[in-house]
Amino acid sequence: MSKTKILFVCLGNICRSPMAEGTFRHLVEQQGWQHLFEIDSAGTGAWHVGNPPDSRATATALLRGIDISGQSARKVRHQDFEFYDYILAMDEENHSNLTRIAPEQYRPKIRLFLEFAQDQAETEVPDPYYGGESGFEHALDLVQAASRGLLAEIEDRD
Ligand code: 4NP
Repeated sequence: MSKTKILFVCLGNICRSPMAEGTFRHLVEQQGWQHLFEIDSAGTGAWHVGNPPDSRATATALLRGIDISGQSARKVRHQDFEFYDYILAMDEENHSNLTRIAPEQYRPKIRLFLEFAQDQAETEVPDPYYGGESGFEHALDLVQAASRGLLAEIEDRD
């Protein structure tokens, strides 16, 4: 069976998309399904390439049992559009930047991550970088809801 390949994308790849990568991986591992997935995250910007996640993101995730400390930021690459099945943007700006650089045939793979969150009025994961701890808590609430919805959709599909 071919793997489902998922790329989570934000601006810097040090706050939201690392939390999304870690959360989704954690869910998949709890089910014992890690062999069925390729999961990664990337940023549309390059300022933080090679850096670990923001310490606030790492601490917030760890309080919920999710260890993202081993991740390292990278920028979205051209090959990602062909390789990944789902390219999930945290906000509208990430979505439009991805759409602008993606070859046309791969654009349908680019979606807003919160499309998968059930019963959620918000459509974007707000950028928590310039705010306080509560922004990270809220971003992780949204990411956890969307991760559950995404896994449920993939289960239903297969
Ligand atoms: P992220 O947050 O996109 O969730 O990783 C940001 C991280 C860094 C910057 C902006 C947003 N920055 O401007 O450096």
